[in-house]
Amino acid sequence: MVMTQAATFEQLWSAIADIGRDPTTGGYRRFAWTASDESMREWFSGECAARGLHLTEDRMGNQWAWWGDPDSSATGGVATGSHLDSVPDGGAFDGPLGVVSALLAIDRLRSAGFTPQRPIGVVNFVDEEGARFGVSCAGSRVITGVLSPDRALALRDADGVTMAEAMRAAGQDPERLGPDPEALARVSSFIELHIEQGRGLVDRGSAVAVGNGIWAHGRWRIETPGEANHAGTTRLTDRRDAAIGCAQAVLAARAAAEAYGTLATVGKINIKPGGVNAIASSATAWLDARAADEPALRATLAQIEAEVTRSGAIMAEESWTPLTAFDDALVRRLADLLDGAPVMSTGAGHDAGILANAGVPAAMIFVRNPTGASHTPAEWAAPEDCLAGVEALATVMADLAGAEK
Ligand code: GLV
Ligand code: MN
Ligand code: MN
Repeated sequence: MVMTQAATFEQLWSAIADIGRDPTTGGYRRFAWTASDESMREWFSGECAARGLHLTEDRMGNQWAWWGDPDSSATGGVATGSHLDSVPDGGAFDGPLGVVSALLAIDRLRSAGFTPQRPIGVVNFVDEEGARFGVSCAGSRVITGVLSPDRALALRDADGVTMAEAMRAAGQDPERLGPDPEALARVSSFIELHIEQGRGLVDRGSAVAVGNGIWAHGRWRIETPGEANHAGTTRLTDRRDAAIGCAQAVLAARAAAEAYGTLATVGKINIKPGGVNAIASSATAWLDARAADEPALRATLAQIEAEVTRSGAIMAEESWTPLTAFDDALVRRLADLLDGAPVMSTGAGHDAGILANAGVPAAMIFVRNPTGASHTPAEWAAPEDCLAGVEALATVMADLAGAEK
């Protein structure tokens, strides 16, 4: 029986629908090197094997599946794909849509009798969200040398488990971690398809857009010290309450973002010792800040740092990605191929941005998200838009893999 593309999409989608899904919130918790991540990786390798793709892992354990041999091609191959991990209580589409669409684009090209002149690769980047160890795009940062193996392996999750320990427990060898120029040399260009994570496409009457860049963004840790004591007996004037400094940090982030027209968010806080009846002895807040305008972002951070330092806190950078412009010629080529699809940048981070900054020509395809909701179980894209995304990706891959550039 020949399945329609819609049926195959549904089949692939439903095969992963329950992996790492919390039945009460409906959100996904697919954190790197956990059992659910392992199940996603196994699903990916099974689908690649079913298509006769040759699966390899690079020095970080990112999975690359090739149609054709990128090592025997003088120009390398054309890669697509995304990631299969999630944020805490994330949606179904952020990441998996790009991987599922990549597999379906290959199916589509094959059923059209297409013979690639250059190899086509599908990648599943590990730990894109940084949900467990705090650094986003760890998979692409390590292979491009932006994140050192020593620093990566020493990162700890909320339970104190290091990345090295987590990798070992998942059967991965942390010793092999490091920059991987060989894996990168196989990629002459990279196209990441992703659900749109805002409302940019809603009013533009198009199911897909071409991504031309990523805002500057990063993460900072703000540590506020305090002194534990009894909540019922310590006079207000005698307290050093870390929760107060932490609350000030949250408000400082909002005020600075408003002042400079940027975005700044505190979405994660850890207060110790964490007793309802104990004054906080320390508070850690994680700040996420982003802007299309890098100097405005730097000014935002300077204002927040000045505020939090006044309450005795220390602010330390955990990751930074500069303003990223995708390859201009590639972006124009995609827009032409996709009938003048809108071209837009995004405030969301992606492995495509890390690769672009490492010199790999990259661009993205966004699929319309009717509510713009993302990093929440409410994230959604209409099935017909997802299929339009597959068609767009197949068109682009056929063009890039069908001709010498
Ligand atoms: C990734 O989704 C990010 O931008 O945080
Ligand atoms: Mn995300
Ligand atoms: Mn993503």
